[in-house]
Amino acid sequence: MNDKQRVAEHAAQQIENAMLIGLGTGSTANYFIEALARRQREESLQIQVVASSVVSAIKARQLGLPLRGIEHIAILDLYVDGADEVAPDLTLLKGRGSDLVREKLLAKASQAFWVLIDQGKRVERIGQNFPIPIEVMPFAWQLVQRSLAEIGGKATLRANGDGLFVTAYGSLVLDTIFDPITDGITLNGRLNAIPGIVEHGIFAQLATAVFCGHDGAIEENWA
Ligand code: A5P
Repeated sequence: MNDKQRVAEHAAQQIENAMLIGLGTGSTANYFIEALARRQREESLQIQVVASSVVSAIKARQLGLPLRGIEHIAILDLYVDGADEVAPDLTLLKGRGSDLVREKLLAKASQAFWVLIDQGKRVERIGQNFPIPIEVMPFAWQLVQRSLAEIGGKATLRANGDGLFVTAYGSLVLDTIFDPITDGITLNGRLNAIPGIVEHGIFAQLATAVFCGHDGAIEENWA
């Protein structure tokens, strides 16, 4: 069992009966979905799930988890997802995939948000290992690119083969590098103030807990 699997099992063991649980997207979230489905089967847990992506919805349905549509919920008990980077203050970077909008909606709508990572995701500052993914309204990408340049961001449209990468929400993505790297919470505020940005990959003050698999052990950091 690798660290991602171990941390996913650890989270799944803490799920309680009758919960409505949001499912993240990515390899760690997949391990969690599998562990959750196994517990539901073996212990006849009465739970429901809502998915942050088509891929996670398909996986949940194949494994027999009762799935609700995101359009039918206003609040959920718990959201469980991976992350691309985690800073010491539990600010996250997410959005390597195409489901950032749903991921942030579910994280915000949840009474608790558990983040599952291995040690390789820890950083001193958000943006250390990856550019910040910024989803933009397609017609506004150049206007947003200019706004980002004004706050020190070098933004490049994400490509997909010969075409452009389009997210599940229908946005384009500006992968943006800031030099020097600004503190994640400050940058979150600046990005929130730019018109034309649909959503971005900084998840500030949303995580309730980060569970980190590290050489066979689990470290828990609570907000
Ligand atoms: C998806 O858009 C991302 O936010 C994922 O949560 C992130 O890429 C984590 O993926 P892994 O669990 O595969 O590392």
